[in-house]
Amino acid sequence: METLVICKSIHHGNTEAVGKSIAKVIEADLREPERTDVEEVREKDLVGFGSGIYHGSFHESIFDFIEKLPEVEGKKAFIFSTSGLPKIPIFHDFEDELKEKLTDKGFEVIGSFSCRGWDTYISVFDFFGGIHKGRPNEGDLEEAKKFAKKIS
Ligand SMILES: Cc1cc2nc3c(=O)[nH]c(=O)nc-3n(C[C@H](O)[C@H](O)[C@H](O)COP(=O)(O)O)c2cc1C
Repeated sequence: METLVICKSIHHGNTEAVGKSIAKVIEADLREPERTDVEEVREKDLVGFGSGIYHGSFHESIFDFIEKLPEVEGKKAFIFSTSGLPKIPIFHDFEDELKEKLTDKGFEVIGSFSCRGWDTYISVFDFFGGIHKGRPNEGDLEEAKKFAKKIS
């Protein structure tokens, strides 16, 4: 099976750590969207898309990449993220938009993984060292690997 993981991690490298764990299990290259030719996706069977959550959504470069993709057929996708806050229905439902964009392109979205990541964005938390310092931790990365085994 041909695999690829597209990942954007701008804050503390939190999502990159998760992406690396997943990529290792599914034997994929881990790439930034801006450094990936959309044509490469034609050769892949399974593609992962991940980033931190910024202002309630995945990084815009992930959406830009998907926008540039040709329509696909018979390909599977999964998504992954790290965030300060967990998913909260309606209020903080950050996976829905990305799932929809991928489905619209023709991907079958077969799963998603999310865990907390060290967050120093809100300055009042930054004063105290941020929230979720040390995450993703070993346990989070183990869960990411379990997820990767399940979808591959
Ligand atoms: C500009 C910015 C906006 C953020 N907005 C959110 C948000 O809306 N919800 C949330 O849960 N976390 C938010 N965070 C926290 C990040 O999602 C979290 O720290 C994540 O693990 C960062 O991943 P990264 O290190 O891979 O970039 C934000 C962080 C930054 C820098």
